[in-house]
Amino acid sequence: MKTILVTGGAGFIGTNFIRHALVARPDWRIVNLDALTYAGNAANLEDLHARYRFVHGNINDSALVESMLAEEKPRGVVHFAAESHVDRSIVGPLDFVETNVAGTTRLLSACRRWWEETGRPDDFRFLHVSTDEVYGSLGPEGFFTEQTAYDPSSPYSASKAASDHMVRAWHRTYGFPALITNCSNNYGPFQFPEKLIPLMILNIIEEKKLPVYGDGRNVRDWLYVIDHCEALMTVLERGTAGQTYNIGGGAERQNIDVVHQLCDLLDQRLGRGGATTSRRLISFVTDRPGHDRRYAIDASKIHKELGWQPRFSFEQALAATVDWYLAHKPWIESVRSGEYRRWIEVHYGGARGKGTEGQRD
Ligand code: NAD
Ligand code: DAU
Repeated sequence: MKTILVTGGAGFIGTNFIRHALVARPDWRIVNLDALTYAGNAANLEDLHARYRFVHGNINDSALVESMLAEEKPRGVVHFAAESHVDRSIVGPLDFVETNVAGTTRLLSACRRWWEETGRPDDFRFLHVSTDEVYGSLGPEGFFTEQTAYDPSSPYSASKAASDHMVRAWHRTYGFPALITNCSNNYGPFQFPEKLIPLMILNIIEEKKLPVYGDGRNVRDWLYVIDHCEALMTVLERGTAGQTYNIGGGAERQNIDVVHQLCDLLDQRLGRGGATTSRRLISFVTDRPGHDRRYAIDASKIHKELGWQPRFSFEQALAATVDWYLAHKPWIESVRSGEYRRWIEVHYGGARGKGTEGQRD
C-alpha cells in the first residue's frame, strides 16, 4: 500500500481527487490534512473509510505536519490547500499570503526535513497544484506555455505565483523532488457556490439575478475536474521532478456564453422558456478590479511527454455538473450555511446579484 498525503482534500478539487484516486488506484491509501475553512467540507468524504484518514489541521502547523510525515511515511504529497477565490483575495489579501505563501513554505520545509532525515527516498514526490492565473492575462490570440513569464494580476494569483517560486527554489536549492502543475478553470461536483458555474446554477434554480462582471466577454479555458484529477495522478506518477506541466481543458468560452448555456440547460430541466426563460435574470454588474481578459492553456507538453489529454467535452460535463447540483440540494444547503452566508452578507449586503461595489474594505 502506498500512502499519499493530500492537503486541502476537503475542498472542491481535493474531494474529487480523493474520491477518484481511491477507485482508480486500489494500492493507494490517502491521508487528508485540511483546516476546514469556509471552503472545506469534511462531509464530502464522510462515507470513505477504507484506505482513507482525515486529519483536521493547518499546513502552517509544522509540528503537526512533521508528526504526520513521521507516522504515515508518504510516498507522495499532493498540495491543494489554499485560499482559492479571486474576489475574496481582493477583499482580504492577508489570508492568501498566510496560507498560499507562508503555509506552502512551511509545508515545503517540513517535507524536505523529513525527506532528508529518511535518506532522500528516490520514489518520493511533492506535487504542487497551481493555477494558470500566475501567467496574467492573454489578448485575443496565443496560449500560456510552461515558458510564459509570470505576470499575476490579483492578490490570489500573486500569492500562488510566490508559492510556485518557493517550490521551484526548493528543487533548485535542495534538490527536493517537487513538481508543479498550472491548470485552468475547473468545474464539476462539490465546487463551492462562489465560483462562476455553481453560483450561476444555484441562482438560476432560485430565480435570483445572474451577476456577469463587465461586458461578459472575458474568456476562461474550462477543465472538467475529473480530467484534472487524472492529469494530477499522471504527473505524480510519471512526471519529472523539477518540471512544470500546464493542464487545460481546451474549452475556451466567453463568460456570457457559459451563462447562456447554463440558463438553457436548466430551462430544459425546470420546464422554463418564453417569458420565463432564465436568461431574463442576467445582470451586467461592475467589473472585477484587475479582471484578466483571457486564459488559454497550451497543454502539449503533458500530452506529448506523459500522454494525458482531457476525456470529457465541455457540453457533456457541464450538463453532468448541472444534474449533480440538482440532485444534491442538501449538500448545497449545508455549505451555504454559516461562514459563507456571513461573508456574503458583510460584503454584498445579503444579495449576491447587487454588483461588486461593496467588495473592497
Ligand atoms: P477550495 O477553495 O475549494 O479548497 C481549498 C481547501 O483547502 C479547503 O478544503 C480548505 O479548508 C483547505 N485549506 C485552506 N487553507 C488551509 C490551510 N491553511 N491548511 C489546511 N487546509 C487549508 O479550492 P479548490 O478550488 O479545490 O483548489 C484547490 C487548489 O487548486 C488550490 O491550490 C487552487 O489554487 C488550485 N487551483 C484551483 C483551480 C480551480 O478552478 N478551482 C484552478 C487552478 C488551480
Ligand atoms: O484559472 C484558474 C483559476 O480559476 C483558479 O486558480 C481559481 O482558484 C479559480 O477561482 C478560478 O478563478 P476565476 O477568477 O477565473 O474564477 P471565477 O469562477 O471566480 O470567475 C470565472 C469568470 O467569471 C471570471 O472571468 C469572473 C467571472 N464572474 C465570476 C463570478 C463569481 C462573473 O462574471 N460573475 C461572478 O459572479
